[in-house]
This record gives sequence, C-alpha cells and structure tokens, in this order.
Amino acid sequence: MVVDDCCFLHKDSLVIKPQKKYPLGLWMAVLGLIMISGIYICSLCLKQRVLLVTPNQMKVKSTRQTCRDPSIPKSELRYMHYPEPISYSREECACTPVRFFAILSMQRSGSGWFETLLNSHVNVSSNGEIFSVKERRSNISTITKTLDKIYNLDWYSSASKNECTAAVGLKWMLNQGLMQHHEEIIEYFKKRGVSVILLFRRNLLRRLVSVLANTHDRDAKQLNGTHKAHVHSKDEADVLAQYKPTINTTLLIPELKHTDKWASEALGYFKSSCHILLYYEDLVNNTTKLMDVLEFLKLPRQKLFSRHVKIHNKPLSDQIENWDAVHAALKGTEYESFVNTDYGV
Ligand SMILES: *[C@@H]1O[C@H](CO)[C@@H](O)[C@H](O)[C@H]1NC(C)=O
Ligand SMILES: *[C@@H]1O[C@H](CO)[C@@H](O)[C@H](O)[C@H]1NC(C)=O
Ligand SMILES: *[C@@H]1O[C@H](CO)[C@@H](O)[C@H](O)[C@H]1NC(C)=O
Ligand SMILES: *[C@@H]1O[C@H](CO)[C@@H](O)[C@H](O)[C@H]1NC(C)=O
Ligand SMILES: *[C@@H]1O[C@H](CO)[C@@H](O)[C@H](O)[C@H]1NC(C)=O
Ligand SMILES: *[C@@H]1O[C@H](CO)[C@@H](O)[C@H](O)[C@H]1NC(C)=O
Repeated sequence: MVVDDCCFLHKDSLVIKPQKKYPLGLWMAVLGLIMISGIYICSLCLKQRVLLVTPNQMKVKSTRQTCRDPSIPKSELRYMHYPEPISYSREECACTPVRFFAILSMQRSGSGWFETLLNSHVNVSSNGEIFSVKERRSNISTITKTLDKIYNLDWYSSASKNECTAAVGLKWMLNQGLMQHHEEIIEYFKKRGVSVILLFRRNLLRRLVSVLANTHDRDAKQLNGTHKAHVHSKDEADVLAQYKPTINTTLLIPELKHTDKWASEALGYFKSSCHILLYYEDLVNNTTKLMDVLEFLKLPRQKLFSRHVKIHNKPLSDQIENWDAVHAALKGTEYESFVNTDYGV
C-alpha cells in the first residue's frame, strides 16, 4: 500500500528558502520577474472577477467562508469542499466538509466488494460505475459535466445518504474513457482536489478466470435465469464457481501482458494526483488495511461490512479446465508466480 504525501507537497512548494550563494544581481532579476508575473496574474484575476462574478456567486463564496474551521491546515483546504446541491439543501450538514474521491480499477478486481464496504460507512456515498453508460463518457465535456454533478451531491443513486456525507465519489473502470481522456481527467482531479483510490489485483490469472466465468454467466444465466456479477450467498457462489473456463494458451500471455501494461500505465498517469494504491489480495488478507482508506479520506473509523460473497475460493488448479496446459504455458515466464504462490484469493 502506498499513500503519497499529497497534502504536504503543496506546503513545501510554497516555502521559499533563500540561498545565500547567489549574487545580488540574480536576486534582483528573480524579484523583478516575480513582480511582473504577480502583476500579470492580478490583472488576469481582476479581468475574470469583472467578467464572472455575479451576485449569486458572491453569495456562494460567503456561505462557504463561514463554514471554514481556522484549525484546518491550509494544505488540507483544497481537498475539503462545501457543495451546495441544486436539487436540495444540505441544511444541518451544510458545514460538513466533503472529500471527493474516485476508485479507479479494472473489471473483476474486487472493486464491487470494495465499494459496498465503503458505502457501509455512514458518511460515504460512492455512486457506482457511473461511466458504464456510454453517453456519459462520449467526450471530455460530458465526463466533466457528470463528475460536477456527482461532486455537487446532485447525483441520485442507492448510495445517497440521509446522513451527512463527508466523502462522495464513484467507481471508474480504466476502459471507461479513463485512459483515453487521462490528461484532462487528471487536470480535473487536481483542479477540484479529487482523491484517487487505485485498486488493482496482483494475481492477473485469477482475475482472468473471474472475467471468463462472468462472461460465461452473462449468456448461461446460471442463477435461475438471471446473470449475476456478484452474489450474496455461499449457495449462489457455489453454483457460479462450478463453471471451469478453458483458457486459450496462445492468447494467455498477451492477455496478461495487456492487463499488466494497463495497470502500470494507469499508475504512471495518476500517481501525480493525491492517491492511495491498493491491492485486492492485501485487502482480503488483512481487512484492517481498510482503515488506511478511511484515514486517507479523513473519515472517522468505523467497522465496514459487505454482503458480497467471494465466488472463486478454490485453488486455481480446480478452477481452470485445461489446468495442465495453462500451467505449462506460464512456466518460466514472468507470470509463473500466479500459479505457484496460490494466494488463495
Ligand atoms: C459530447 O457528446 C455529447 C453527447 O454525445 C454531444 O451532445 C456533444 O455535442 C459532444 N460535445 C463535443 C464538444 O463533442
Ligand atoms: C457523519 O454523519 C453523521 C450523521 O449525519 C454526522 O453527525 C457526522 O458529523 C458525520 N461525520 C463526518 C465526519 O462528517
Ligand atoms: C431459484 O429459485 C428457487 C425457487 O424460487 C429458489 O428456491 C432457489 O433458491 C433459487 N436458486 C438460486 C440459485 O437462486
Ligand atoms: C486460440 O486463439 C487463437 C487466436 O485467436 C486461435 O487461432 C486458436 O484457434 C485458439 N485456440 C483454441 C484452442 O481455441
Ligand atoms: C494489516 O494492515 C495494517 C494496516 O495497514 C498493518 O498495520 C498491519 O501490520 C497488517 N497486518 C498484517 C498481519 O500484515
Ligand atoms: C497474508 O498475511 C499473512 C500474514 O501477514 C502472510 O503470511 C501471507 O503471506 C499473506 N497472504 C497473502 C496472500 O498475501
């Protein structure tokens, strides 16, 4: 688990440490530059004020100001928001600061389970896979419009709470426009102070089994004629786990490589934003790791629960039809550990 020190970064960058070894001339030049850029920025600000500030916005600003708790360090402020939803009034929660987050993950990596755990927290509202709907991710303007609505607490879903929301977010798969528009999205995340939760799976072979089994059930509808991506009982899990996929060994390595590459690319892109990196296996093995997530979002500690029941619990050798061929195909490759160290998860 890796947490970057996002909240301290800005503080450091603001501290200007004078260094004695530069000559006076250089100092004067730097000072001059700072003054010029200062004047330039001010003139820009003034121009924008004149153009943009309407009486309505002034009102919004002043109410937000009254919520501010002076004990909160400045570096934290950009991650704390006081949304004013269009559709209702937050009333007694108006001054409860809200953190914005996004869970970035891949299909069949435990993000469904993880999200139900988060949503069991009284102050969390995670709105699900909002961008599974194609129109919402058609282009960057539909994406930002959707995000604005979520973060303004104007999005209705089963995750909406009556209690004071202190963290609001969504679950977002890498293949749902996230990688395609990563530059603009990172810019948005930085501008609006969105905290990023990256959730990946270490054992990509187990993930592949889950992907194939889930694809199979989409057609087979093994549970009384309905397709279920997640189950809530052991009986249902057992039914779904009976199916053992046959894995095309020619495509196996390229497939694992592709998934691996996506995860590391995503990490490369989003590590510049305020983020925490989680692995499904670690969370399953040690549920106290969930408390790190609450800490990351500055939420009060609380026991979290989920009704999700894990589907594939058996050793991989019992879950892949052509196990011997798969085992042989991975032997001696960088992915050999997926078959050897049986994570059990
Ligand atoms: C973005 O997509 C929406 C919906 O598909 C469309 O109405 C809109 O014109 C598009 N905007 C741009 C800038 O392409
Ligand atoms: C969580 O919600 C409760 C109930 O609405 C509220 O009293 C409390 O202040 C909230 N906690 C935080 C940290 O916002
Ligand atoms: C299927 O439906 C029957 C009767 O409605 C019920 O008893 C059974 O538990 C269901 N099975 C599954 C796997 O959902
Ligand atoms: C595996 O996939 C390759 C490429 O799509 C295909 O040519 C081959 O027939 C497949 N093998 C099996 C056993 O399905
Ligand atoms: C479980 O996770 C917590 C929080 O990250 C850590 O402090 C603890 O050492 C972990 N326990 C084990 C047994 O790894
Ligand atoms: C789970 O945690 C234990 C104790 O920290 C460790 O020995 C074991 O290797 C871990 N298992 C996995 C799958 O990470």
